Amino acid sequence: MIHQLIYYSRNTVPGGDRAMLTNLRDIVSASQRNNCRDGITGFLIFDKTWFIQILEGDRTQVGETYNRIARDPRHTGATVADARNVSTRSFPNWTMGGAMRTPEVEEVYLQHGVGSAIEPARLKSSQIIALAFDLQAFDQARRQGMRLAS
Ligand SMILES: Cc1cc2nc3c(=O)[nH]c(=O)nc-3n(C[C@H](O)[C@H](O)[C@H](O)COP(=O)(O)O)c2cc1C
Repeated sequence: MIHQLIYYSRNTVPGGDRAMLTNLRDIVSASQRNNCRDGITGFLIFDKTWFIQILEGDRTQVGETYNRIARDPRHTGATVADARNVSTRSFPNWTMGGAMRTPEVEEVYLQHGVGSAIEPARLKSSQIIALAFDLQAFDQARRQGMRLAS
């Protein structure tokens, strides 16, 4: 049985797009290293104000990872939106994927009915997973395009 936890939190790191992207990349690279070791997969949505993260794996490992993340000063007010057992992982191929909200991915947000500011407390976990899924697909398609173009 896989445990899946979804939480949201508020970003505390100020700066422009470049600083925010660097911040996200730092978080994602540390996450990939640790999550690979701990058998955790998931996705991190970052709209510059909010982080929304899906963590999935062994229940104990997910709990320990979440507790460590919640203490991180790069965000505040971590709130668990959902925690449940699922039969399969939603993000089996990602030790931790991450996407920042940029004009490029705005169409993905729009497809999910998120036109302006995101309100994490109002989103259902199924909506969060669907949005993360499409952000991941968008990122993959873009990488694929880059490979074909080069
Ligand atoms: C929004 C956010 C999401 C994070 N997600 C993860 C994660 O999925 N896995 C992880 O190990 N660390 C994650 N971190 C980083 C942890 O808070 C912590 O810095 C890191 O696990 C420490 O790793 P280290 O001891 O290898 O330096 C996240 C941090 C933030 C701010």
